[in-house]
Amino acid sequence: KRKVIIDCDPGIDDSLALMLALSSDEIEVIGITIVCGNSPVEMGFENAKKILAHMQRLDIPIFVGADKPLKKTFCDALDTHGADGLGESFLKDIPGYHQTMDAVTFLSKTLKKQSCSIIALGPLTNLAQLISQDVEAFDKIEQLVSMGGSYKSHGNCSPVAEYNYWEDPEAARLVYQQMAKTKKQIHMVGLDVTRKIVLTPNLLSYMERLHPEKGAFIRKITKFYFDFHWTQEHLIGCVINDPLAVAYFLFPELCSGFSSYVQIETDGISRGQSVVDAFHFYRKEANAVILTQVDVKAFFQLFISRILHLDLA
Ligand code: BDR
Ligand code: CA
Repeated sequence: KRKVIIDCDPGIDDSLALMLALSSDEIEVIGITIVCGNSPVEMGFENAKKILAHMQRLDIPIFVGADKPLKKTFCDALDTHGADGLGESFLKDIPGYHQTMDAVTFLSKTLKKQSCSIIALGPLTNLAQLISQDVEAFDKIEQLVSMGGSYKSHGNCSPVAEYNYWEDPEAARLVYQQMAKTKKQIHMVGLDVTRKIVLTPNLLSYMERLHPEKGAFIRKITKFYFDFHWTQEHLIGCVINDPLAVAYFLFPELCSGFSSYVQIETDGISRGQSVVDAFHFYRKEANAVILTQVDVKAFFQLFISRILHLDLA
């Protein structure tokens, strides 16, 4: 089994991603690190506990990380994810769970001890701090998949920027720079592919029919997200970005793309933009794999069957 740490800011779609990961036997989630993003970091911690409790996996350790971006002022996305960060589902709090160390210490100790990958579903602040504090550990990451950025798609925070990179552009820039230094490639699961992953009312009803109890839970945590997408952009359904990063990690053949040099802009009108040098103007070695295509049907077949614990093959 491939070992993986999930760095996230739960978040509705982060929670769905966690559920997908925990329902997949191909991988072992050895820890969850929380970063501020969609919700303040303590709220993200509470939400991760709620999801682990729901999945009966409170044995997995959760570590609290950065409570603010490297330089910018923290700006949550509770308008998108609801006042509790979990779609105003107001699930009951899970008491009595003590964390033993902070996220960066956990990452640094773990990466030095064993080979493991990271799926990053939020701003890259924790990983940037790891670079500053223990670059050797960062360089040991087996595979780094990041939900973030966009290539040809428009942004979701500005005309050009996706939320995770917009929220902490300095962190994202540092992570991409470090990948370039080590001649490694970060797998960028950006809006080009994730915006195609729309959970529609039909799919949700189908899930409820297949498994009323598990389906009802998904409805409970996504209702706010559906409403948000309708009010915001008249979309009938909600874009669930983060589970695609997990699905891609499990089955890379679900997506395709190309390798390129990427730099993240930090300021002004292009803050958070992932500039992809697809035509090789700068003659720099690729530091990223940019995903541009996704098999949406195959994704939902995987997602639905795993989340409902059914074999739909
Ligand atoms: C990303 O931003 C957050 O709102 C989601 O959880 C996802 O990680 C999409 O831009
Ligand atoms: Ca997220």
